[in-house]
Amino acid sequence: MPRHETAGPSTRSVHDGASRDAERGTIATPIHLGSTYFARNTHELTEYLEGRRAANFYSRYSNPSVEAVEEKIAALEGAEQGLCFGSGMAAIASLLLSQLAHGDHVVATRNLYGGAFEFLEHLLPRWGVGVTLVAPNDPKALERAIGPRTRLIYTETPTNPTLGIVDLDAVAAVARRHGVPCAVDSTFASPVNQRPVGFGFDFVLHSATKYLGGHCDLVGGAVVGPRDRMRDVWNHRKLLGGILDPHAAYLTERGLKTLAIRMERHNRNGLEIARHLADHPRVKRVYYPGLPSHPGHEIAKRQMAGYGGVLSFELDATGEEAARFVERLEIAYLAPSLGGVETLVTQPAVTSHRYLTKQERADQGISDSLVRFALGIEDAADLIRDIDRALDTIPT
Ligand SMILES: Cc1ncc(COP(=O)(O)O)c(C=O)c1O
Repeated sequence: MPRHETAGPSTRSVHDGASRDAERGTIATPIHLGSTYFARNTHELTEYLEGRRAANFYSRYSNPSVEAVEEKIAALEGAEQGLCFGSGMAAIASLLLSQLAHGDHVVATRNLYGGAFEFLEHLLPRWGVGVTLVAPNDPKALERAIGPRTRLIYTETPTNPTLGIVDLDAVAAVARRHGVPCAVDSTFASPVNQRPVGFGFDFVLHSATKYLGGHCDLVGGAVVGPRDRMRDVWNHRKLLGGILDPHAAYLTERGLKTLAIRMERHNRNGLEIARHLADHPRVKRVYYPGLPSHPGHEIAKRQMAGYGGVLSFELDATGEEAARFVERLEIAYLAPSLGGVETLVTQPAVTSHRYLTKQERADQGISDSLVRFALGIEDAADLIRDIDRALDTIPT
């Protein structure tokens, strides 16, 4: 399948890995619904099972509609191979289980998506895997945590909900020094804004539910990495049964074709609205890596081409008043998730982080009056008007 390594992100998101149907001449990849595939003879089936034949065999193993998405995501990330899953969590779980066995050890940065955190903290130890969590931006602590049985370094950047930035160069350097593979969840960035393989990362993960799909109409996930290491990830996907459904694959591939132009608008809206909020008298603090005031700004400038559409800010108000604020917005939906064309808003203390103690939330900078926007692709002027109108209703 074609790769346009020197082309711009829009050309790559439209054309890379595209799987045209040469026989019928369709430009869009068909939705291949078949669950099973015939071979012409027993020899062909054996060749497939021994990995010497690339044709499809059974749709829990591989599927042409899913492969079209995998090729596109791998090309966008600059990786050798991609695999798609039924959710971001299926991708994360399959990667972790493929790399770790009883007695092994994984080091992860602490500020992770809640599901990944729970899997590391609660499930892996049940299977005899040691887990050490370290501060996200302390390469020395990361290095100290590595032991003789460490088999993986796992991180995420930017992080939810305060948009923390992990230094990809620094993590990859530690991983290289110790000969340990490293993986990063790059969901908040998308491959348009951040390409961790170029920094020396072995695996890059995505919740395709977010920017890759882009329209809040599918649940999916992806892992990309070097072909030799991906074989075991594929085997875990096969045995855990987590492959992406062909209908969702079609929607993901369709979404990917507009990824670069959507990201341009998400990036623009993010920066414009972050700057506006930073100057607003009812806002105490804005968390957006594109602002020079953000502690990760210099690192983000080095490793990201844009800063995305997610931002958080602390209102000069009580938690109750923050709740009234989000309810009064007319354009933004009060909803979890991110990466769609519609703007979504949440109050992390009562949604994604409600099961943490107040102290745990405080440690992560999550106050009751923190509001998170996952900005869509609407016109920034309309979003700003809507935000200002709702801010004006907060009592002084
Ligand atoms: C950064 C990140 N990674 C992974 C996931 C999990 O993805 P999914 O919901 O598709 O399983 C999410 C979901 O919110 C996320 O925000």
